[in-house]
Amino acid sequence: MHPLYDNLNLILRICFALLLINRCFADLRHGYSMLKYGHKLERRMITSYHKYSILDCVEDCLRTTRCRSINYCQGAHFCQTNFENRTTVPDLFIEKSGWIYSDIEDWDTTIAGACSMSNCSMNEKCIPNPFGQFSCVISDCGIPSNERFSMEKVKEWDAIGLEKGIHITCSAGYKPQGSERFVCHPDGSWKTNLKCTTKRKIM
Ligand SMILES: *[C@@H]1O[C@H](CO)[C@@H](O)[C@H](O)[C@H]1NC(C)=O
Ligand SMILES: *[C@@H]1O[C@H](CO)[C@@H](O)[C@H](O)[C@H]1NC(C)=O
Repeated sequence: MHPLYDNLNLILRICFALLLINRCFADLRHGYSMLKYGHKLERRMITSYHKYSILDCVEDCLRTTRCRSINYCQGAHFCQTNFENRTTVPDLFIEKSGWIYSDIEDWDTTIAGACSMSNCSMNEKCIPNPFGQFSCVISDCGIPSNERFSMEKVKEWDAIGLEKGIHITCSAGYKPQGSERFVCHPDGSWKTNLKCTTKRKIM
């Protein structure tokens, strides 16, 4: 290609990248003002991270298609991303000292930079690349609840993210067989041997 075109292309790419470095310019005031101190949403975790700032936690949630809210433990710099929020599961929104809860809708999506324009699918998260590009990687194994599987007995540290695990039981009226522990494989599929069979009705 003609060298002039190469240079022009590079300049255009740099300009585009600069336009997308938005985290510095994003309006964070609204998000911070809406934080719910002394609260968390229980038992609906996608994944968790150590040594994250609250803004890192928000950014991760914004890049994860399924993420609806976060819990943040200030002392421990511990971040949890959730696939529900306090409107969708109000009973699981509880008071807990030391925690901060935040709905993802309260944040400026431009915090996620190039990923604010991503179209990653439901079980994916967006990874920003140079020059305003992004790619999608698998984030979780999906929500393992349906007519037969119940999330009634999910435990506090259970999660649906890659290499995490969750306790699933059979819905009322179904007979369990196998282990109630589901493990999420790195390929995004659940490893489980739980079978929930219809109980024979006693007339
Ligand atoms: C919770 O999530 C639902 C569904 O995504 C959304 O409609 C609702 O506005 C969210 N609630 C809050 C408080 O952000
Ligand atoms: C996402 O967008 C890109 C570019 O706009 C397109 O090539 C790709 O097919 C889209 N993927 C999905 C899952 O819609």
